[in-house]
Amino acid sequence: MVRMALIGTGWQGQGLLNFLTRIDDADVVGICDLNEEMLNKAANKFNVAAYSDYEKMLDETHPEGIIICTPPTVRVPLVRAAAERGIHCFIEKPPAKTIEMANKVMDILEKNKVMNSVGFMYRYSKAVEQCTALLEGKQVSQVRSAMLDGLALRPNWPKWFFDKHRSGGPVFDQAIHIMDLSRYILGEVKQVVGFQGNLVKPKTDEFTVEDSISYLVQYENNILQTHTHSWVYSDHVAELEFISDQFHLTLDIGEGRLTGTMDGENVSFESEDVLYYLELEAFIQAIKENRPELIKSTYADSVKSLRVALAVSDALESAKIIAL
Ligand SMILES: NC(=O)c1ccc[n+]([C@@H]2O[C@H](COP(=O)([O-])OP(=O)(O)OC[C@H]3O[C@@H](n4cnc5c(N)ncnc54)[C@H](O)[C@@H]3O)[C@@H](O)[C@H]2O)c1
Repeated sequence: MVRMALIGTGWQGQGLLNFLTRIDDADVVGICDLNEEMLNKAANKFNVAAYSDYEKMLDETHPEGIIICTPPTVRVPLVRAAAERGIHCFIEKPPAKTIEMANKVMDILEKNKVMNSVGFMYRYSKAVEQCTALLEGKQVSQVRSAMLDGLALRPNWPKWFFDKHRSGGPVFDQAIHIMDLSRYILGEVKQVVGFQGNLVKPKTDEFTVEDSISYLVQYENNILQTHTHSWVYSDHVAELEFISDQFHLTLDIGEGRLTGTMDGENVSFESEDVLYYLELEAFIQAIKENRPELIKSTYADSVKSLRVALAVSDALESAKIIAL
């Protein structure tokens, strides 16, 4: 059994605890949050020892791995406390809010030689695996991606998501998933440009993020991508379409489905993966068997996706082309 602890028992923390407690090789030894109400709710639901001080939790419960599920501005001291105790770190996305912060986290992880994983769960999808296999050796010409969600329409959603300084808005919170998955499949980014707007939910003192963004990416291999992102859509769509003369594939990453045509043949693949389970299982197996290669999203690699998010953010703010 791998001893696991978790910091941040909010929305995502409780979601991950749901899966963590179902993994046979994981023993959840402690959870921590500053918010007593959230903490007690999670402690009662999952029957785990609760702490309001993460250093005390780490010293008393001796976990081998920690799941860090706090807002993106809260990373460095938590990672330092864990890594300096030799505890392997799973860190929710985005890896950090700024590149300076990301570099500090990376230094701490490298200095202490602990395994690390970032919550880019789409990398664990079987539909993604299938898509990558089909595209092997083929020339993608263009990609049309969309993530349409309704965060800004939800009155009870944590307020920090709508504070641009704390969350970074749709770019850092959600589009970074698409940036990471696109890099994973297509390669590194050369330059970006885009525009943003608030036609449905205007900005106020409490809502300083955009409700919609659209941007264009050119990859180093000259593949082109357009991405449409909404936080004011009443359903959920998360799709990438890969377009060329020989194929047109649609990867529905929410549903784990790959459909379309390739070389005149129909493609139809569906898998019921539970991606949060798979990313946690990989992290726990990596710790148990000392096999870091099981982790598909390392912190160092996630920082490359953060650099894309920062470039897109600059492009959206300036309406200029930003090169990486
Ligand atoms: N991978 C995904 O699909 C996904 C989905 C949702 C959220 N997330 C990410 O998970 C992270 C958390 O998001 P959330 O939706 O759970 O937010 P949340 O506000 O619901 O929960 C965050 C919790 O962290 C706690 N916290 C903050 N600082 C702390 C500290 N120093 N010590 C202990 N606890 C502390 C807060 O009290 C809060 O309960 C974010 O980085 C977010 O982007 C990822």
